[in-house]
Amino acid sequence: MIKPDGVQRNLIGKIISRLEDKGLKLVAIKFLRLTKEQAAEHYREHAGKEFYERLISLITSAPVVAMVWEGKNAVFIVRKLMGATDPAQADAGSIRGLYGMSMGRNIIHGADSVDSARREISIYFRPEELVSYEKTL
Ligand code: CMP
Repeated sequence: MIKPDGVQRNLIGKIISRLEDKGLKLVAIKFLRLTKEQAAEHYREHAGKEFYERLISLITSAPVVAMVWEGKNAVFIVRKLMGATDPAQADAGSIRGLYGMSMGRNIIHGADSVDSARREISIYFRPEELVSYEKTL
């Protein structure tokens, strides 16, 4: 997901290009503003943490781009491309390393496991919104 700060900073195109260039396959994409309910479901594992209210407030503050990318080891590969959660610790060439300045405004979110990916996808997409196709070129 390209988070509100990524959208506000005009980074949608750059981020999608990095994932496309790597070889991942886009199978679903949606531009939307999260409801409080969607945000709470998405970040339920963080409920009660010190930063939780800030996190919910930021993620619902402006539109996001929700996406589903497919590929071998996609979860791991996307996490490498994103860099560490804290942009100050992220590899300099990663998305967060290049564009992020703080833990809260870290530009992008990616699922941390296949199970979380499944759960998070189901918050934003109906099954028929995932488009199955072959890359031929
Ligand atoms: P994300 O990958 O979206 O998953 C949870 C988010 O919580 C994380 O990125 C950060 O934006 C945010 N987060 C995690 N830890 C902290 C923290 N200590 N302070 C503020 N925000 C945090």
